[in-house]
Amino acid sequence: MNLDQIKVYSKMGWDYFINKRLDVSLWQQFKSLSKISYRHLTNKVTIIDSSDFKASYDMAAECFDQWNERMGIVSDKIVDLDYIASNSRPWNFLDFGCGTGYVTSNLMKAIGHDEYKITGIDLSTNMIEICKNRIKDERVNFLNVDGIEHLKEAPDAHYDGVFCTWALEYVPQDPFFTNIHRALKPHGQLALAVSKRGTIIEVESCIMEILAEYPDMVKGVLDISCFLPESLEELKKKVGKYGFTPVKMEDGFVELSFDTPEEMLDWLLNTGDIAGAMQMFTDADFFKKQVVEKIRSKLCKNGKYTTYQTYVYGIFAKQ
Ligand SMILES: C[S@@+](CC[C@H](N)C(=O)[O-])C[C@H]1O[C@@H](n2cnc3c(N)ncnc32)[C@H](O)[C@@H]1O
Repeated sequence: MNLDQIKVYSKMGWDYFINKRLDVSLWQQFKSLSKISYRHLTNKVTIIDSSDFKASYDMAAECFDQWNERMGIVSDKIVDLDYIASNSRPWNFLDFGCGTGYVTSNLMKAIGHDEYKITGIDLSTNMIEICKNRIKDERVNFLNVDGIEHLKEAPDAHYDGVFCTWALEYVPQDPFFTNIHRALKPHGQLALAVSKRGTIIEVESCIMEILAEYPDMVKGVLDISCFLPESLEELKKKVGKYGFTPVKMEDGFVELSFDTPEEMLDWLLNTGDIAGAMQMFTDADFFKKQVVEKIRSKLCKNGKYTTYQTYVYGIFAKQ
């Protein structure tokens, strides 16, 4: 276990078991944390990593469009029409973590002329397959690669714009921002939509309670929350450190309401919204059953099961 893993783990223990108000006793939380920590230190509990996210999104790919039925209204705001209209040169865009191609399709519609090139990259083989079947256009190229590896290989001043919707939390931040800054042309734009730390906190606390109640069913630990910005200001500061200035930013939330706990769980799994969470447990069916029961007992509001996706989006220009 290296230092980063220890940092991730201790942050997770702190956040998940101490700071959050869980419906399990502090003593139970402490006992569970010690148990999982011990197994973690003896390498019997692993860290959820990009191979688990790939597995989650490969599973989600077929139904993933459900995400954009609810969250597409946010992704739509990062296509800056003024920027696209401002220049007649051929555009060269990158859609990082392109999923099933939602942003790429919107860009193709928005550009409105023939001279462009878009590269869509995604770690999930099944996501990329869907893109390739849906968008057959010689100006658009889809690659099934790790986005960070792709960025590292990208030439300097290559792209006019990089778009990344809902994928920032899965990647190491320093190589992401450094390489995008390098690979963008002067005044090129980076457009981001990202969940805020504490997004779907209602669901997260259900999962934390299951972790605390069933430590013996835990085989891995996950913490992506440290990559999520706490606020608009935090994102602005972070992106600013890498040499970007904001052109437009906004934060908000989308209410996610479902008629049944099962529908809520299906949505969370089908959209990858809890990517990696199922992989923390030794038994996927056990995990699903427990989550449904927690949702049923904790998240019912006016006959609906509700949680909130909180987000920040921003368009930033390379200085
Ligand atoms: C929530 S989806 C968003 C998809 C798309 N951007 C959209 O808005 O519809 C996150 C995507 O990031 C991809 N992803 C995760 N880690 C990645 C990485 N290291 N490189 C490239 N893609 C990655 C996942 O496979 C998934 O398709």
